[in-house]
Amino acid sequence: MKIVLATGNQHKTAELRAVLAGEGLRAVELVSLADLGRDFPEPAEIGATFAENARIKATAYAALTGFHCLADDSGLEIDALEGRPGVISSHYCTQGLETGMARGERDERNNRRVMHELEGVPLDRRAARFVCEMALASPEGRVLATSRGTMEGRIGTPDRVPRGAHGFGYDPLFLVAPDFASTSAELEPKAKNALSHRGEAARRMAAELRRITAV
Ligand code: IMP
Repeated sequence: MKIVLATGNQHKTAELRAVLAGEGLRAVELVSLADLGRDFPEPAEIGATFAENARIKATAYAALTGFHCLADDSGLEIDALEGRPGVISSHYCTQGLETGMARGERDERNNRRVMHELEGVPLDRRAARFVCEMALASPEGRVLATSRGTMEGRIGTPDRVPRGAHGFGYDPLFLVAPDFASTSAELEPKAKNALSHRGEAARRMAAELRRITAV
């Protein structure tokens, strides 16, 4: 089964490929949207939850490419901010509006906004989690499987973060549970995959794929 990974984010593609390769799925060939050699219009991520957005992306790209499609939607939930940035994690600095800002600048501004909104909140009230939802859709538009993963942590205080050069997005701010000693940007890619929301969701999806391709 050829499966298109429906993301333009190279970090996410690399993380997903590494996890799924480690699961030894011999009947599955993973390709990225870029591998298909043409541009596809991006579906609007209008879902109210990560799960809805994953379904929207998987079904849209499966229809557009004609292949089975695996999509993920992920983001950060901060308890002290009532779950924000949530589904608008990637465009938090512009209230969810896509302005065409480069990813690097966007990440930096998103991080500054989160740190500003948490000003004065002590470390033990800065609980947060990364969430990842995945959906696999067939070219006919059926959702064949879904999976979810989470990674618990805290957003560090300004004396502790930002730290670390790996990963992307909010990683330099995110102190990983249970000891909150290092940020997810300080974890080597392999270590992050073993702990991360995306790793967990991907391993669960791999189990679904094994079941589907065995039929
Ligand atoms: P998506 O590309 O719409 O799924 O948006 C995900 C956004 O959530 C990213 O742009 C990041 O801001 C944030 N995010 C998701 N996963 C991670 C992660 O593993 N590390 C850091 N930030 C993440």
